[in-house]
Amino acid sequence: KDEHLTPFYDAHELAAKYYHYVLVETDEGKPAREYLRKRGFTQTAIDQFQVGFAPDSWDFLAPFLEKRGFLMEDLETCGLVGRRESDGKAYDRFRNRVMFPIHHTQGKVIAFGGRGLGDAQPKYLNSHESVIFNKSVTLYGFHQARPKMKKRNEAVLFEGYVDVIAAWRAGIDNGIASLGTAMTEQQAKMIRRNVDRVLLCYDGDGAGQQATYKNARILMDAGLTVTVANLPSGYDPDDYIQEFGKERFATDVVGNRKSWMQFLFDYFVIDKDLSLETDRVAYIESILTETAIIENPVERDMYVQKLAERFNLSQQVLREELSRIRSSQR
Ligand code: GTP
Ligand code: MN
Ligand code: MN
Ligand code: MN
Ligand code: MN
Repeated sequence: KDEHLTPFYDAHELAAKYYHYVLVETDEGKPAREYLRKRGFTQTAIDQFQVGFAPDSWDFLAPFLEKRGFLMEDLETCGLVGRRESDGKAYDRFRNRVMFPIHHTQGKVIAFGGRGLGDAQPKYLNSHESVIFNKSVTLYGFHQARPKMKKRNEAVLFEGYVDVIAAWRAGIDNGIASLGTAMTEQQAKMIRRNVDRVLLCYDGDGAGQQATYKNARILMDAGLTVTVANLPSGYDPDDYIQEFGKERFATDVVGNRKSWMQFLFDYFVIDKDLSLETDRVAYIESILTETAIIENPVERDMYVQKLAERFNLSQQVLREELSRIRSSQR
């Protein structure tokens, strides 16, 4: 039924193979091999994720595909080539970039993420959305991770391609990444159809923590139980594995994960000074507002107890405030 899409899929499959070949087998691939070696990529990981390299050329992929009968306008539609304004000549959109193929749920390549070597700008150039690439229903690594996710009844969610691959080397084979940081309801439902739990493992910077907070809500609304990896600030999962090794990543970051409640207790403290009374009040209000959303009364009560203990307040007062917030939310 989707026969008209065949050339788009075929072009991506062929491009992925070609880029992978260039990376692994050719002289042109040498700078990228060197770059990836420095970043700790093994040959097994490169093969497993079909990582490739687009050489530093304006006319490497386009003529290759044109010779095989692909139409330039099709390749332009799906973002593999661009067109020169002046004479309409096609040129390669991805140049001098490490290429990460992105697959759809059934495993066909539908897009690429291209990482510039070193400090090239933009750092990542990604395929734009197209007839075959709908970002809001795509998760990097999903196709490959799906059987492992099911087996473990858990998915591990990362920010970036490189994090998924580094974690895979560390034995975490149920890792996936949202492209960029904004999670959609459809992605959450895709995950929910396969597992009950998600471990959020975003970067340990402000943006990563904010994305954790935002995306956890979407995941929980889809019925998933969320925990949060214990990543020190200043590291992303890949940085951490590079510096401290895969064993410590498994024990200290994944093994020492935070419950959602623990995460919130840490998250709301970030911009506050709890020795100040006003900040303390604001902090307690924030936690209570989160507590109010929770459907399970036992879980709500645990938050109340914890707050009461921590700030030496009566549970009664906190419960009254909680009811007030709950009725105002309705
Ligand atoms: P490395 O520097 O290669 O380790 O990448 P990273 O994954 O640590 O990058 P970062 O944490 O900055 O971004 C996480 C994800 O956001 C990336 O994997 C990309 O999918 C996306 N992203 C990052 N930078 C850019 C960019 O400049 N343009 C686009 N379109 N996406 C980006
Ligand atoms: Mn290979
Ligand atoms: Mn980041
Ligand atoms: Mn990062
Ligand atoms: Mn990184």
